[in-house]
Formats: sequence, C-alpha cells, structure tokens
Amino acid sequence: MRLALRFVLPLILVLGGFAYAIVPLVDQLTMRWFVRDMDIRSALIANTIGEPLLEQIAAGSKTKIANFFVKITQDERLYAVGYCASPQSAPLASKLLPSDIRCDNLGRFEAAGDHHVLRSASGPLHVAVKELESNGTAAGKLVLMHDMSFVERRSAETRRYLFFFFAGLAVVVSLITVLIAQLSWRGWVQGMRALLRGETMSRQPQGGMGRPEFQPIARDLQRLIRELESETRARDEGQTTWTAESLRAILQGELRGEDVIVVSNREPYIHQKKGEHIEVQRPASGLVTALEPIMRACSGTWIAHGSGSADREVVDRHDRVQVPPAKPAYQIRRLWLSPEEEAGYYFGFANEGLWPLCHIAHVRPTFRSSDWACYEAVNRKFAEAVVTEAKTKAPIVLVQDYHFALLPRMIHEQLPDATVITFWHIPWPNPESFSICPWREQIVTGMLGSSILGFHTQSHCNNFVDTVDRLLEARVDRESFRVSLGGQVTAVRRYPISIDWPPAPEMIGKPVAECRAEIRQANDLPPGHAIGIGVDRLDYTKGIIERFRAIERLMELKPEWIGRFSFIQIAAPTRSGIDEYQSHEAQVRALATRVNERFSRSGRAGPPPIVLKIEHHEPQQVYEHYRAAELCFVSSLHDGMNLVAKEFVASRDDERGVLILSQFTGAARELPEALIVNPYDADQCAAALHLALTMTDQEQRDRMRLMRRLVAEFNVYRWAGRMLLDAAIMRRRGRLPEPTNAAAPGDARG
Ligand code: G6P
Repeated sequence: MRLALRFVLPLILVLGGFAYAIVPLVDQLTMRWFVRDMDIRSALIANTIGEPLLEQIAAGSKTKIANFFVKITQDERLYAVGYCASPQSAPLASKLLPSDIRCDNLGRFEAAGDHHVLRSASGPLHVAVKELESNGTAAGKLVLMHDMSFVERRSAETRRYLFFFFAGLAVVVSLITVLIAQLSWRGWVQGMRALLRGETMSRQPQGGMGRPEFQPIARDLQRLIRELESETRARDEGQTTWTAESLRAILQGELRGEDVIVVSNREPYIHQKKGEHIEVQRPASGLVTALEPIMRACSGTWIAHGSGSADREVVDRHDRVQVPPAKPAYQIRRLWLSPEEEAGYYFGFANEGLWPLCHIAHVRPTFRSSDWACYEAVNRKFAEAVVTEAKTKAPIVLVQDYHFALLPRMIHEQLPDATVITFWHIPWPNPESFSICPWREQIVTGMLGSSILGFHTQSHCNNFVDTVDRLLEARVDRESFRVSLGGQVTAVRRYPISIDWPPAPEMIGKPVAECRAEIRQANDLPPGHAIGIGVDRLDYTKGIIERFRAIERLMELKPEWIGRFSFIQIAAPTRSGIDEYQSHEAQVRALATRVNERFSRSGRAGPPPIVLKIEHHEPQQVYEHYRAAELCFVSSLHDGMNLVAKEFVASRDDERGVLILSQFTGAARELPEALIVNPYDADQCAAALHLALTMTDQEQRDRMRLMRRLVAEFNVYRWAGRMLLDAAIMRRRGRLPEPTNAAAPGDARG
C-alpha cells in the first residue's frame, strides 16, 4: 500500500499541476477561435443585411427599420445591431445596443481590427463594425454585437471535462504504473527466490537470474557470494571440531535441508538368513564405515545393491527399508541385480577390470566387452532409481566409487539441476596405466558428469586431470583444478576421507584391560603375550602376504619374539567369486601355515606367530581387537586412504599402541607419527615390528596423541561437510549469470 501511494501521489500531483497550467491556455485559445468565428459571422450578416437595411433607410420608415432590427436580433447570438450613417449622426439601433456605443466613437473598434470584445454584466460581447456600400460609395457603418457568454459557459464546461479527464488519466496511469511496478517487483522477487532455491540461470532465461535486469547487479552478487564463500571457508578452517550436529547444521543452513541421495554398490546393512532367523550384518567396507554416520546425521536415501539373502524379505513395496534397525534414521532403497548382471558389472568390470587397473598391486586387469555392457546397463538402472527417489529436481547426489563411473553423466542428463558429488574411494593411476582400459574415454566422460569429483589425495587428483588432458578435448584449468567438458564444469578436489569421531560409545565401552584379557584367552594366548593386529578384506591390494613375510623376517632377525608375539590377522572374505581372490586366499593360508610351522616352538605347541581368522567380524569385535593389541600393521600395496589405520588410532583412548603404516596408503600422508614402511621391504617392516614392540610407553603416548588429534579434527563429518559446503557454494554460484568478461572465480583448495 505504502509502495502504491509512493507512486500514485506524485503522479496525481504532477498531473494536477499540469491541468492547472493548461486550463487558462485552453481558455485563451478557445476565446480566440470563437472571436474569429464571430468575425466571420459578422461579415456574413453585414453582407446579408447591408442591402435590405440601406433600402429600409432609403425608404425612411423608422418603424420598419426597428422591426427589421428586432427580427434580426432574434438570432440568439446577435445581441444588438446599430447603424451610423455618419460619425455625427445618432445611431439607429436595436434595443440592447449599449449607450456608450456612439457613431463618433466607433473608431476604437476599427483600430482593434474590425472587432472588439466588451465586458458587460451579462458576459462578453463581440463588437464588429462593418462599412456598408451602395453603388460603390460608402453608405455608413453597421455595428453588430454578438453575445459571447456562451463562450464562458463552454469554457467552464471544458474546464470541467478537462478536470475529469486529467483525474481519470491520473487514476489510470497510476494503476498501470502500480501494476507494472508490482509485476516487475514480483518477477524480481521470484528471480531472487529462484536464486536461493537453486534454479540455474541457463534454465530460466525469463524467470530467474537470466533476466537482463539482473545483469547490472550480477557482479555485485558475485562479489557478495565470494565474500560469503570466504566466510564459510574461514568457518570451516576455524572449526576444529566437526560433529554430526555441525554437519546437520550445514545441511539445514547452507543447503536448507536439501534432498540428499547416496548411491553405492555396497549397502550399509545386509539382511542375511541364518537358519530360521534373519541376521543384520555390517559389511567390511571403508566406504560404508565413512558414509554410514553421515547418513545418520542427514537422513536421506541410500540406494545400493540388495545383496543379502534376506534383503527382499524386509523391504516395503517400494524396496525400501529403514535403518539402522535399532533406531531408524534414514532409508536404504535396494536394487536387485540378476546373477548375470552381478557377474558382469560387479565381479567382472568393476573388480576384475577397474579395481586392479587403479591399484598398482601387480595384478593384471581383465576387460571383457560383455562385462562392459553389463556395467553400462547396471549404471543405467541405478540412474533410473536416482530419478525415482529424488524428491526435487535438484537433489544432491553422492555417487560412490568405481562401480559407478558412468552414473554421474547419466544423472546429469536426466536431472540437469542435480548437484552430483562423486567420490572415488580408490587410487587413480597415471595416464599411461589408465590408458590400457578399452573404454577409457567413456569412463572419464561419465565421471565428468559430476559437479564435484573427489579423491583422497592430491596425487590422485593430479593423475585424473592428467588423464583427462591426455584423453579428451576438454578444457583443463590447472590453477583451479576445474575441467570443462561440453559446457559442464567439474571441480576436481582432494577430500581425505575419515571415520566417525568420537567413536560410538559401544565401540570403546569395554575397558582396554578387559579387551586384552578376553582376546588373549579367546586365541589361546597366555596373559601378557604381545599381540599385533591386522584387519582387512582378504584382498591382494592389502599386502597381507608381505605382512606375513615381515613377521617371518622378524622371527628370523629377532628370535626372542618366537612364542612371545603373535599377529592376529582378521581377513574378511571378499569377492570370492573371482579367481584372483581365490588364489590369493590360498596363498595367504599357505604362507600363514608355513610361517607358523617354521616358528612354532620346536617340540612344543606354543603360541603361533600368525593367527589367521578368515571370517566376518562385526565392527565392535574389530575394535576390541584393536584395543587388545600392542601394534596394528597396515601394509597395503596401494590404498586410496585405508580407514583401518584411523580406526586403530580412534580405538586407543588409552593412548597406547603403535601403528605401522604402509607408505602407499593415503593415510600415510596424514599420520606421519606412525612408523611408515615400504611393505615390499621385509627387513624394514621387521625392524618396525621390533621397534613397535619395544617402544616406551611415553613415546607411544606422544605419537598416539598427535595422531588422535588429527583424526579428531579431520573426521568423517569434516570430509562430508567440506564436500557439501563446496556443493552449496557451487549451487549458489550456478544461479548467477555468467559474467561476460570476468574470469571464473578461483576456488582451488588445498
Ligand atoms: C573398497 C571399495 C568399496 C567397497 C569395499 C568393499 O573399500 O572402495 O567400494 O565397498 O572395498 O568391497 P566390496 O566389493 O565387498 O563392496
């Protein structure tokens, strides 16, 4: 209302002033027109009555002349008529001719140019003096007076009309102005709202920030957003404790509770039939370890392959199940794969092709075109599921790992406004190694459907960008680490993954002393016996063979540990449908047996150097082992991150225990206080084992404290939080018009 008045009042005032100024002008103008009309009319009357009047005068009948004057002054406009034979004579006149009009003063009217306007009580009178002629000689003057009061009446009427006209005009113009202002304001507000909601510019040339009127402020908005970004980053850098709550706050604040969908092959909870019962299993997967707490915090939908024998029995009619079973916080949407699909996509292309391709573990990748076809088809199947599960047109989709290299582009094609964050949990090889894949271009192109593509380390980011440079006609900006392909920009970033911190109370609930006693007892080891722990999937990339060789070497070099030290290896069975994994398991078993035979105390059945447990362990059991051990040995030959290293550190709230860590893990870059080793160097590893077993409590504490501080600070909430913050920034930026000549704002992060 106030806005309307602000428009209308000045408009009415302006129009009122205009009307006020124009009315006298109109009056003058109309008067001039009417006077001219009267002149013409007077000339006409003079011409018409001149001759009969002169005849009457010549006839000399005063009565006839008077009647003649009465007759012609019946015309409503003709007020009076007079005739002067000469300036000295008295005028012959009709009744109303004013007395001050005399034959000797007609000159003043002639000087005014044949006419004059006199003021009288009844209104203005037009006076015209016309010369009469008879046979070519002057025959006196005719005075004609017209009543012009009608002019005043008309003028008043005109003024009234003008007033109503301007008043009406003011109202109409005000209404149109207010309407247009309202519409533009609404459009502007809608544009702003669209900006905040995340509708992109390019998609709404008329309705959103694509409107040309936004162009002038685009730069200012961009500057504002950059300021907000740096504030957000400062907050990220300044915030040392990231928790589930801070992550939730980001989702609700920066991302306004947006729709979050996770896609991974492995599901976080697997329902398995155990006789009559259904058991819920937590798989051994770094990916699941990291993402599960995130999903608990932000309650979204997790789409994954339903691989458990009882999975179908527990889902609803939309194939969804609420988890965690004890306290549901989010839902899993299960996708069913046929045995052929699983063989081609999962065992085949993902695990016989991409897995060995990306890990330098000296196992040759196998590529089959039938596996590739399955891989493509299953990626498509998951893309359809994402579209079905999306509650909005612009969800945030977290695509996980090498099972879904093609999925980001497929999602982008169907949901162009979605923000796809892809995280590649395994290493990315150098371009030469990667180029042996027959479908290398398709894979990289598929991944570049992501808005953000994350790796654990900068060297994986570098390798990926080098690979793109080598394979595709894409624009690679090495300063900001952005790749543009076909108009789509992907930010390639390093996000070192981590674990839940602080660990859930049930994980560290059992006191260390109790864990030590129980684990020793359960494994027939004497109290006080030194224990090392290894926890892995039974995968050839984990360096289990190299680990056992190092233990063998320790026993060779430091025989005092024979019978006093045992290494418990928990090896979760994995991908056992693949030949390479079967033969690896056989090798591991054989090596453990050989080492144990070699170093069991001669003649006596003593504690073996290696306790090999090839079976699934629940996370809580794993943590009890960590807490019971003197050392944890992670000897991966190549590993994206390796969360076992971080879990061991998290489990040791007693600040004891030594971590021996392969230099080929991502974790080695973050945990330099561990004893860093080359797993291929058995002597070095044996020396590290000995050092760990003899390390003073003080040194153990010093190292453990530093590592715990790092894991606490760089926990999994920070990992997810940083990705989501970057996604939020990107969404904000995507709503702005592209500046025509400004450089893209750099936002490379370390
Ligand atoms: C690695 C991969 C994960 C995978 C996990 C377990 O950590 O990066 O994507 O889930 O291994 O492997 P699996 O084949 O059993 O899922």
